[in-house]
Amino acid sequence: MPLRVDSQLEAENYFHGFLDTDDVNEILQKSGDFLVRYTVPISHGADYNYVVSVVAKPTTKEKVVKDFAIMEKDKGFMFEDGIPMSSVFELISRYKNSKKPIADGIALISPKRRKKWELRMSSLELEATRLSEGNFGHVLKGFLKSPTGEKIPVAVKQPKTNLPPDGNLANDLVNQMLCEARALRQTASHLNVISLQGIVTELNPPLLVMDLVEGSDLAKALRSQIVSDQHRLPIIIGVASGLSHIHLNGIVHRDISAQNVLLSHDFTKIKICDFGLARIGPSYTAKSTRPIPYKWMAPETLMKRVFSFKTDVWSFGVLVWEVYNDGADPYTFLKPQETRVFLLEKREKLGFNHAVIECPQGLVDFITKSIFEFSPEKRCNIITVCEKLKEILSEQDPTVQQRCIPILMEMNRSRQTAVASSRTRKSQSLDDNRRKTSRGTKPKSPHVRSARSKEKKNSKPRSPDS
Ligand SMILES: Nc1ncnc2c1ncn2[C@@H]1O[C@H](COP(=O)(O)OP(=O)(O)OP(=O)(O)O)[C@@H](O)[C@H]1O
Ligand SMILES: [Mg+2]
Repeated sequence: MPLRVDSQLEAENYFHGFLDTDDVNEILQKSGDFLVRYTVPISHGADYNYVVSVVAKPTTKEKVVKDFAIMEKDKGFMFEDGIPMSSVFELISRYKNSKKPIADGIALISPKRRKKWELRMSSLELEATRLSEGNFGHVLKGFLKSPTGEKIPVAVKQPKTNLPPDGNLANDLVNQMLCEARALRQTASHLNVISLQGIVTELNPPLLVMDLVEGSDLAKALRSQIVSDQHRLPIIIGVASGLSHIHLNGIVHRDISAQNVLLSHDFTKIKICDFGLARIGPSYTAKSTRPIPYKWMAPETLMKRVFSFKTDVWSFGVLVWEVYNDGADPYTFLKPQETRVFLLEKREKLGFNHAVIECPQGLVDFITKSIFEFSPEKRCNIITVCEKLKEILSEQDPTVQQRCIPILMEMNRSRQTAVASSRTRKSQSLDDNRRKTSRGTKPKSPHVRSARSKEKKNSKPRSPDS
């Protein structure tokens, strides 16, 4: 809860709950655009308060967003040096209606409404059924009431808040959820990527609301041996297509594994999920204190903790191994940390010789040579992976080919959209591990703690010791 709740203010559609500076930059565009939000608390359980974000009058070409914290003093609520008012709502209304500047060249001219993805808790019905119970959070089943009264079945991700503040990194949950939602928004609408309905920004920590996939994760499905051989290649092609869409939208997923792919009961829905570690931009270096799932990591990640489009491609290769080994633990006889020695010192690779299910030889050769390539520069990108998979598919049984038709259509659609948008903006190379994407400005206020997303503070139950 904020220090003091102002229900009248929170009912206004210019009140947005928790947003960070990246989100604010997405919503506010022109001089005088403003919104009211909560400050992002320093750690879970810490105080937070209301802040007004507003676009300043332009002095240069660059948009500048300023944040003004609202203070409560003896005489009422006010900006740092302003006139006190009886409530935050009254304070905002006064400046909004009078258009008087709060500071030099800064006035509250155009209130910006909540976006469609900023959901209200009142539009959500949660069920007691837990779809998953992880060490660091759970996913619940629920329904989202649409404005037309329709009830959409959803999965709702809720991080645990009762973790010890340090070891299990319970702070910064707000940043984590906002960052995950942003990555999901950026990869919106693809057959093989989970869709975000929105994020309940008025709660601490916010809830992530996604389309529900009735089924299980791919690792679980493989382990329970319900996946027939005819479905394996379509699943792999679906994941490759989803990953190429993610990369074409400038996002490194960082956690590609069978456990993070959702599969419907009839195997027709194959969706990459869990963007909890995803980062916008072509490369990212993780802090050394954060656990990483060793067995899915590329050599350069094990060595330098760098993540890129190419490290996702390596993890995709491990996922293919999982698919042909009924969800077994990769490098079965090694402890997660021993993978480092196996790969980096012995220069050995995950082999397909003893795969439980026979993998097409062309795919084995391709993975071994082009995906499990130690040098990221020489490793192929996801577009090449998709092309190779299409080639392998053309040698398969017609029923397998048939199953892949919608996946291939979606793959083409995503590629065409990316080509069209790269004509209007600077195109980004999936082979470039160094260049950063251009981002909005990141204004910092002396009044407000920066809300930039930090490294994810969760670790992974899949390989807790990794
Ligand atoms: N949209 C969804 N539809 C159905 N089930 C889902 C959905 N999203 C997640 N789940 C279920 O919740 C599990 C955990 O989701 P996710 O991987 O996003 O969360 P996480 O907090 O990273 O958990 P973990 O650390 O266990 O991976 C999934 O493996 C799946 O079983
Ligand atoms: Mg997961």
